[in-house]
Amino acid sequence: MEPKFCQAGICRARKGLLERPGNDCLSGMKGSLQGKTVVLGVSGSIAAYKAAELVGLLRRREADVFVVMTAAATRFIGPLTLQSLSRNPVTTDLWAEGGGWQPGHIELADKADLLLVAPATANLMARMAHGLADDELCSLYLACRAPVVLAPAMNGKMYDHPATVENRRILEGRGHVFVGPEEGMLACGYEGQGRLLAVERIVERVEALLAAG
Ligand SMILES: Cc1cc2nc3c(=O)[nH]c(=O)nc-3n(C[C@H](O)[C@H](O)[C@H](O)COP(=O)(O)O)c2cc1C
Repeated sequence: MEPKFCQAGICRARKGLLERPGNDCLSGMKGSLQGKTVVLGVSGSIAAYKAAELVGLLRRREADVFVVMTAAATRFIGPLTLQSLSRNPVTTDLWAEGGGWQPGHIELADKADLLLVAPATANLMARMAHGLADDELCSLYLACRAPVVLAPAMNGKMYDHPATVENRRILEGRGHVFVGPEEGMLACGYEGQGRLLAVERIVERVEALLAAG
């Protein structure tokens, strides 16, 4: 049977490695993100529940995952779930960071090998594009010099709005990588572009970026 490769091309790059049984390509091998710290920013989309699976996939690859949630995100999924899955404290509030002498968002920004924002709302894209620092995630973003990956999820009309299109252009202009969104049935009842890209595909892009150094 013809071997299947991941979309990121990592399997292809690692000559001779074929897909494992279970439809999970070898780029997803245990340990492929060992020693890497991924900060996962979660914002207030209906797709926020998928962050749980995302954390699981990153952890399986042995990434050290720290979740930072916007206040809106906590309406969709509990911090405790993501804390248990990531095995690290989850930060939701700039004013309750805890820990040592250094502000938590600065410490975490320095520690990150990659900042993944998934799902990224229209609101968060706007705040990031315009440099607002009014919560934990946006403050961390400004302090972070690691590669940034955004996976937007929203209603198709929100995604197509000139304001969102412009914000994406600004963020891409900074070298940030967008993964998705993809087309499909949206939670808002519409069909179109705006669905969070499949979490496996998101993780493949993270692996590819971190493998490329
Ligand atoms: C039920 C519900 C679902 C929502 N889903 C989305 C979504 O998928 N994408 C989005 O951009 N905004 C969505 N919103 C709106 C955001 O939650 C809202 O803009 C919020 O201020 C985002 O805050 P944040 O970007 O700080 O997380 C939704 C709101 C509600 C009430």
